Amino acid sequence: MTQIISIHSYRGGTGKSNLVANLATNLVLEGKRVAIFDADIQSPGIHLLFGLDDEQIKYTLNDYLWGQCPLAETAYDVSNFINKELGKQVVESKSIYLVPSSMKPEEIATVLSEGYDVELLHQGFKELSNLLALDYLFVDTHPGLSEETLLAIGISDVTVVILRPDCQDYQGTAVVLDVARQLEVSRMLLVANKVLPEVNADALGTKIENIYQVPVAGVLPISNDMFRLASQGIFCLRHPNSSFTQEINKITQKIREILPQPVELSR
Ligand SMILES: Nc1ncnc2c1ncn2[C@@H]1O[C@H](COP(=O)(O)OP(=O)(O)OP(=O)(O)O)[C@@H](O)[C@H]1O
Ligand SMILES: [Mg+2]
Repeated sequence: MTQIISIHSYRGGTGKSNLVANLATNLVLEGKRVAIFDADIQSPGIHLLFGLDDEQIKYTLNDYLWGQCPLAETAYDVSNFINKELGKQVVESKSIYLVPSSMKPEEIATVLSEGYDVELLHQGFKELSNLLALDYLFVDTHPGLSEETLLAIGISDVTVVILRPDCQDYQGTAVVLDVARQLEVSRMLLVANKVLPEVNADALGTKIENIYQVPVAGVLPISNDMFRLASQGIFCLRHPNSSFTQEINKITQKIREILPQPVELSR
């Protein structure tokens, strides 16, 4: 059974794509089969974190949504990128896939002006889950509450909302959580990101939990190394001992705990 994990934020630049990339990598290193959908059709980018450049990308999610190719053609195996980052063969090929969105301005403009069938996106999640026998499917979304974001929230097994300690984020997060509750999302987690070193992380986590009545899975520190990485790789692989990575490990564990365990069928 595939578990769908969607990552949201009300505002942009909060850290969604980096969170998705690092959580997905952690699960792959545990031997799980994972795919990432770049559902940020309006401003895609997570493919860069996995070293996938435009020349390597033939078909994108946009092509599938416009009926121009089967979904399987839009899923790129990025397992080797993880091995390259680690400098050794750790992950089996075909363990982690990325479905990128188009970076072509005219294709982005067409989506914005003409839209697409959101139900097809839903079908696509199911199709790819079965085809690739996925354990986890991550959905990286556009900030705010676009149509595809609402869809992803509605069909996720767990919705993770990421926010910075900033008044605009606090207010917007309340809106996202309200909508998620209206969509009867049963499992939600919060993650705080870009937290300054002088802030007591435990106290901030408790404060956020009390405000929203949603469990906080982790409090990620602001990191100069993350700025330096500049979306050119997976932070946890480059900096395995950093406090950011330790917190990502904690969030991975919290996600595992909140999801229903697969039932072992006895013969
Ligand atoms: N903890 C952190 N410390 C420092 N920089 C960070 C941290 N987390 C993310 N960043 C940086 O913030 C920027 C935005 O991160 P990211 O792309 O993951 O956010 P996003 O929410 O996906 O953005 P968008 O809404 O544009 O899709 C990137 O430059 C990233 O390197
Ligand atoms: Mg992003």
